[in-house]
Amino acid sequence: MPRTTDEPASPAPARLPPEPLPITINGKPYYHDGDPAMPLLWFLRDRLRLTGTRYGCDDRSCGACTVLVDGKATPACSLAMSDAAMHEVTTIEGLAGEALHPVQQAWIEADAVLCGYCQTGQIMAAVDLLKRKPRPREEDLATLSNLCRCGAYPRIRKAVLRAAELLREPK
Ligand code: FES
Ligand code: FES
Repeated sequence: MPRTTDEPASPAPARLPPEPLPITINGKPYYHDGDPAMPLLWFLRDRLRLTGTRYGCDDRSCGACTVLVDGKATPACSLAMSDAAMHEVTTIEGLAGEALHPVQQAWIEADAVLCGYCQTGQIMAAVDLLKRKPRPREEDLATLSNLCRCGAYPRIRKAVLRAAELLREPK
Protein backbone atom coordinates (compact mmCIF):
# COMPACT_ATOMS: atom_id res chain seq x y z
CA MET A 1 0.00 0.00 0.00
CA PRO A 2 1.44 3.47 -0.86
CA ARG A 3 2.63 5.50 2.12
CA THR A 4 0.64 8.70 2.84
CA THR A 5 2.54 11.93 3.41
CA ASP A 6 1.61 12.20 7.11
CA GLU A 7 2.94 8.72 7.91
CA PRO A 8 6.23 8.90 9.81
CA ALA A 9 9.16 8.00 7.61
CA SER A 10 10.98 4.88 8.67
CA PRO A 11 14.22 5.77 10.47
CA ALA A 12 17.36 5.88 8.35
CA PRO A 13 19.45 2.77 8.86
CA ALA A 14 22.17 3.34 11.44
CA ARG A 15 25.57 3.95 9.81
CA LEU A 16 28.17 1.59 11.04
CA PRO A 17 31.62 3.03 11.71
CA PRO A 18 34.16 2.05 9.04
CA GLU A 19 36.09 -1.16 9.60
CA PRO A 20 39.55 -0.40 11.02
CA LEU A 21 42.13 -0.57 8.24
CA PRO A 22 45.30 -2.52 9.05
CA ILE A 23 48.61 -1.12 7.85
CA THR A 24 52.26 -1.86 8.61
CA ILE A 25 54.54 1.12 9.08
CA ASN A 26 58.25 0.70 9.67
CA GLY A 27 57.64 -2.91 10.59
CA LYS A 28 54.94 -2.20 13.20
CA PRO A 29 51.23 -2.93 12.83
CA TYR A 30 48.69 -0.10 13.10
CA TYR A 31 44.98 0.35 12.47
CA HIS A 32 43.23 3.34 10.99
CA ASP A 33 39.65 3.70 12.19
CA GLY A 34 38.90 7.12 10.69
CA ASP A 35 38.00 8.35 7.23
CA PRO A 36 39.24 5.78 4.69
CA ALA A 37 39.81 8.61 2.19
CA MET A 38 42.32 10.34 4.48
CA PRO A 39 45.75 10.50 2.81
CA LEU A 40 48.50 8.34 4.25
CA LEU A 41 50.57 11.50 4.76
CA TRP A 42 48.25 12.75 7.51
CA PHE A 43 48.20 9.36 9.22
CA LEU A 44 52.01 9.43 9.31
CA ARG A 45 52.41 13.03 10.38
CA ASP A 46 49.38 13.71 12.59
CA ARG A 47 48.59 10.33 14.06
CA LEU A 48 52.04 8.77 14.36
CA ARG A 49 54.07 11.99 14.50
CA LEU A 50 56.43 10.68 11.83
CA THR A 51 57.14 14.16 10.60
CA GLY A 52 60.18 13.23 8.53
CA THR A 53 57.76 12.75 5.65
CA ARG A 54 57.12 16.25 4.39
CA TYR A 55 54.12 18.09 3.02
CA GLY A 56 54.78 20.10 -0.13
CA CYS A 57 52.38 20.44 -3.01
CA ASP A 58 49.61 17.96 -2.12
CA ASP A 59 49.19 16.97 -5.78
CA ARG A 60 51.94 14.47 -6.62
CA SER A 61 54.22 17.14 -8.09
CA CYS A 62 57.03 17.74 -5.62
CA GLY A 63 57.91 14.38 -4.06
CA ALA A 64 58.49 15.84 -0.58
CA CYS A 65 56.07 13.26 0.84
CA THR A 66 57.73 10.22 -0.78
CA VAL A 67 57.62 7.01 1.24
CA LEU A 68 58.12 3.39 0.23
CA VAL A 69 54.98 1.30 -0.14
CA ASP A 70 55.99 -2.33 -0.54
CA GLY A 71 59.40 -0.95 -1.51
CA LYS A 72 58.14 1.39 -4.21
CA ALA A 73 58.52 5.16 -3.97
CA THR A 74 55.02 6.59 -3.52
CA PRO A 75 53.66 10.07 -2.74
CA ALA A 76 51.95 9.73 0.64
CA CYS A 77 49.88 12.87 -0.02
CA SER A 78 47.96 11.11 -2.76
CA LEU A 79 47.44 7.66 -1.31
CA ALA A 80 44.19 7.15 0.59
CA MET A 81 44.33 5.05 3.72
CA SER A 82 41.90 2.63 2.09
CA ASP A 83 44.51 1.99 -0.62
CA ALA A 84 47.46 1.97 1.76
CA ALA A 85 45.80 -0.62 4.00
CA MET A 86 47.29 -4.12 3.97
CA HIS A 87 50.57 -2.74 2.62
CA GLU A 88 54.00 -2.18 4.16
CA VAL A 89 55.09 1.41 4.41
CA THR A 90 58.62 2.58 5.15
CA THR A 91 59.31 6.17 6.09
CA ILE A 92 62.63 7.90 6.60
CA GLU A 93 62.35 7.07 10.30
CA GLY A 94 62.31 3.35 9.48
CA LEU A 95 65.13 3.29 6.95
CA ALA A 96 68.15 2.85 9.22
CA GLY A 97 68.84 -0.34 11.09
CA GLU A 98 71.59 -0.40 13.71
CA ALA A 99 73.64 1.71 11.31
CA LEU A 100 72.50 4.34 8.85
CA HIS A 101 71.15 3.04 5.56
CA PRO A 102 73.87 3.35 2.87
CA VAL A 103 71.79 5.98 1.09
CA GLN A 104 71.67 8.08 4.25
CA GLN A 105 75.41 7.58 4.71
CA ALA A 106 76.05 8.68 1.12
CA TRP A 107 73.90 11.78 1.66
CA ILE A 108 76.16 12.79 4.53
CA GLU A 109 79.36 12.04 2.61
CA ALA A 110 78.18 14.01 -0.42
CA ASP A 111 76.91 16.88 1.75
CA ALA A 112 73.68 16.77 -0.24
CA VAL A 113 71.51 18.78 2.12
CA LEU A 114 70.92 22.51 1.83
CA CYS A 115 67.75 23.60 3.68
CA GLY A 116 66.79 19.94 4.00
CA TYR A 117 63.07 20.22 3.41
CA CYS A 118 62.94 18.00 0.33
CA GLN A 119 65.69 15.64 1.35
CA THR A 120 63.80 12.89 3.10
CA GLY A 121 61.69 12.43 -0.01
CA GLN A 122 64.84 12.53 -2.17
CA ILE A 123 66.41 9.78 -0.07
CA MET A 124 63.34 7.54 -0.27
CA ALA A 125 63.16 8.01 -4.04
CA ALA A 126 66.87 7.13 -4.31
CA VAL A 127 66.41 3.96 -2.25
CA ASP A 128 63.76 2.79 -4.70
CA LEU A 129 65.84 3.75 -7.76
CA LEU A 130 68.96 1.97 -6.53
CA LYS A 131 67.07 -1.23 -5.85
CA ARG A 132 65.99 -1.25 -9.49
CA LYS A 133 69.19 0.27 -10.91
CA PRO A 134 72.22 -0.67 -8.80
CA ARG A 135 74.53 0.95 -11.37
CA PRO A 136 72.54 4.04 -12.26
CA ARG A 137 73.36 5.84 -15.48
CA GLU A 138 72.59 9.45 -16.38
CA GLU A 139 69.22 8.50 -17.79
CA ASP A 140 68.37 6.66 -14.57
CA LEU A 141 69.33 9.67 -12.46
CA ALA A 142 67.13 11.78 -14.72
CA THR A 143 64.10 9.76 -13.64
CA LEU A 144 64.44 11.14 -10.12
CA SER A 145 61.83 13.84 -10.37
CA ASN A 146 61.58 15.09 -6.77
CA LEU A 147 61.80 18.86 -6.67
CA CYS A 148 64.34 20.81 -4.64
CA ARG A 149 63.72 24.51 -4.19
CA CYS A 150 67.34 24.98 -3.14
CA GLY A 151 68.56 23.51 -6.42
CA ALA A 152 70.72 20.89 -4.72
CA TYR A 153 70.41 18.59 -7.73
CA PRO A 154 74.16 18.17 -8.45
CA ARG A 155 74.75 17.25 -4.79
CA ILE A 156 71.83 14.84 -4.84
CA ARG A 157 73.15 13.12 -7.99
CA LYS A 158 76.58 12.83 -6.41
CA ALA A 159 74.98 11.32 -3.30
CA VAL A 160 73.00 8.78 -5.35
CA LEU A 161 76.18 7.66 -7.15
CA ARG A 162 78.02 7.36 -3.83
CA ALA A 163 75.09 5.40 -2.39
CA ALA A 164 75.29 3.01 -5.34
CA GLU A 165 78.96 2.39 -4.52
CA LEU A 166 78.21 1.80 -0.85
CA LEU A 167 75.36 -0.58 -1.65
CA ARG A 168 77.64 -2.61 -3.92
CA GLU A 169 80.35 -2.96 -1.29
CA PRO A 170 80.50 -6.42 0.25
CA LYS A 171 78.89 -6.46 3.69
S1 FES B 1 53.33 16.77 -1.12
FE1 FES B 1 53.09 14.87 -2.09
S2 FES B 1 54.02 15.10 -4.05
FE2 FES B 1 54.15 17.06 -3.12
S1 FES C 1 67.52 21.13 0.08
FE1 FES C 1 66.13 22.79 0.31
S2 FES C 1 64.38 22.18 -0.84
FE2 FES C 1 65.87 20.70 -1.28
